[in-house]
Amino acid sequence: MRDLIRPVVVAPMAGEPSTPALVNAALRAGATGFLAAGYKTPQAVEDEIRAVGGAYGLNIFVPGLLKDARAVERYRELLRPEAERYGVELPAVRLNDDDHFPAKVELAISYGVPLVSFTFGAPSAEVVRALQQAGSRVLITVTSAAEASRAAAVRPDGLIAQGGSAGGHSATTSPAGFTGDTTALEVLAAVKGDLPVIAAGGVAEAADVDQLLAAGAVAVQCGTAFLLADEAGTRPAQRDFMLSGRGTSTVITRAFTGHPARALRNRFTDTYSASAPIGYPAVHHLTAPIRAAAAQAADADGINLWAGTGFRSARSGTTAALVARLMPGSQS
Ligand SMILES: Cc1cc2nc3c(=O)[nH]c(=O)nc-3n(C[C@H](O)[C@H](O)[C@H](O)COP(=O)(O)O)c2cc1C
Repeated sequence: MRDLIRPVVVAPMAGEPSTPALVNAALRAGATGFLAAGYKTPQAVEDEIRAVGGAYGLNIFVPGLLKDARAVERYRELLRPEAERYGVELPAVRLNDDDHFPAKVELAISYGVPLVSFTFGAPSAEVVRALQQAGSRVLITVTSAAEASRAAAVRPDGLIAQGGSAGGHSATTSPAGFTGDTTALEVLAAVKGDLPVIAAGGVAEAADVDQLLAAGAVAVQCGTAFLLADEAGTRPAQRDFMLSGRGTSTVITRAFTGHPARALRNRFTDTYSASAPIGYPAVHHLTAPIRAAAAQAADADGINLWAGTGFRSARSGTTAALVARLMPGSQS
């Protein structure tokens, strides 16, 4: 593991930000880069795998089971004014969706993807073993000591300790009680054991990277710091919002997807965070047309503006320059 991972890891960012260009640029700059398989079709993932080379990673969502549609149905009613505002139809509630988990694991196996990380829970021991036999190193994202011991039981090669400060979805398997008030340093300390740990969440500058490495992390995974990178696919509406300084704070919200995620506060999070149920991925599918129409209209108030607590330090520029800013020992 330590031989493959560089001190700075450009996080997988599903949706738009992660692109093969971002991953290749990260690798060229001396960082590790991850493709994000989440939400994509297996064909799209395969196309991306073919477009990258070197010691890259692929991130896969572990599917959960949502049995009760009632809370999501109620939320669907609450969202009607949004559908009207953006002129879209709300889709019927869809409960079953494994995000093509088996096909994505199969792709990682057949291409011998060097690093495979999982979020939203631990895969089975069989999946971990099959990947390892194909030559992959397997990482599981955790947010607490309890999740770390469940993850360790399936024998991965390492853990990703994600603080509540992290941008985007939390890997938490306890969405009901999730408040997002842990730091990367705290989660790293809580989960450290025999396995190598990558720390993630709220990293804004090289001093944060230095601190996490000094605390025992083998590497530091950063997402928000690369949202404005030239090679990232981040939506123009999110770029403009961040560059304009209109983002004043981040919140933990289930409003967009039914799973806790850290986002820049906007009209949508203010209106729906209190009423949004636990219901991933059904809520993700429900709000997708709203978010797409808002993005089309360059209306940042209807989009999930995922970002971590370090969002104020995010800069635009080449990935190479952004990696250099974060490298251990750099003066930001
Ligand atoms: C826009 C965005 C999308 C993300 N998508 C994923 C993802 O697909 N898979 C994943 O494991 N983590 C994802 N994350 C979380 C990152 O892996 C990482 O934990 C986080 O970015 C670290 O916190 P930071 O954003 O403060 O640097 C995402 C983060 C952001 C900001």
